[in-house]
Amino acid sequence: MKERQHLASNERESIQTVALFPAFASKMLAFRMKIDVLTIFPEFFTEVFNFGIIRRARLAEIVEINIYDIRSFTTDKHQKTDDKPFGGGDGMVMKAEPIFRAIEQIVGTWKRENYPDGTRVILLSPQGKPLKQITVKEFADQAKHLILICGRYEGIDERVNDALVTDEISIGDYVLSGGEPAAIVLTDAIVRLLPNALGSETSAVNDSFTENLLDCPHYTHPREFRGMEVPEVLLSGNHALIECWRKEKALEKTRKIREDLLK
Ligand code: ADE
Repeated sequence: MKERQHLASNERESIQTVALFPAFASKMLAFRMKIDVLTIFPEFFTEVFNFGIIRRARLAEIVEINIYDIRSFTTDKHQKTDDKPFGGGDGMVMKAEPIFRAIEQIVGTWKRENYPDGTRVILLSPQGKPLKQITVKEFADQAKHLILICGRYEGIDERVNDALVTDEISIGDYVLSGGEPAAIVLTDAIVRLLPNALGSETSAVNDSFTENLLDCPHYTHPREFRGMEVPEVLLSGNHALIECWRKEKALEKTRKIREDLLK
């Protein structure tokens, strides 16, 4: 098998893990979650998982992320990943075989019913179920191994969906040129919810959507900026009052921007 390198996990970084996170390294923590991404554009992901919370979570061995080139699972001379649609029509359709071979190699089986517990094979596509925070939370709490298939072109051979996919997810009612940006969005949303991924345990609790509300407004120094003042209540030191103000502002904003969330 001639997979290209797994761009997001390499030896150099595991050495850095020891240097940067001695407490974690000495406990030899197993990864909390593994995320494998299948794409025909592996370079798309070269730097994107190397920043902020995702980078930190990888170095702390909370998550392992591997990028696989679908092309490397082809068996033909031209390494074809797509072909003309049966029945005619515009565009090309992603072939089933390289994706089946990839799943077989990564999971050990191409039969969904035989996947190990906690394995989810997710197809990113505009036909999928719209992604919500509650689904993100479910993945973060329950899944151990995610395989994200990035669709391209006009679509993907339906047999991938029929046999391999456990969840088809859309990140919104608009069409991207491929599933890659959606895989990044989904990975980011999940990883930040994994235990110890965020600096402060309370940060995720107060996220927008956690209670079907948007987040409240935030302010930092200076107190007055170009004639605009920080609301007085935030300077009062009265935590009960501040909490009340924040709830009220969150509600106000939700009512104005996303009334549907309140129904
Ligand atoms: N691929 C193309 N459009 C998409 C979307 N909206 N969500 C997920 N994957 C996609």
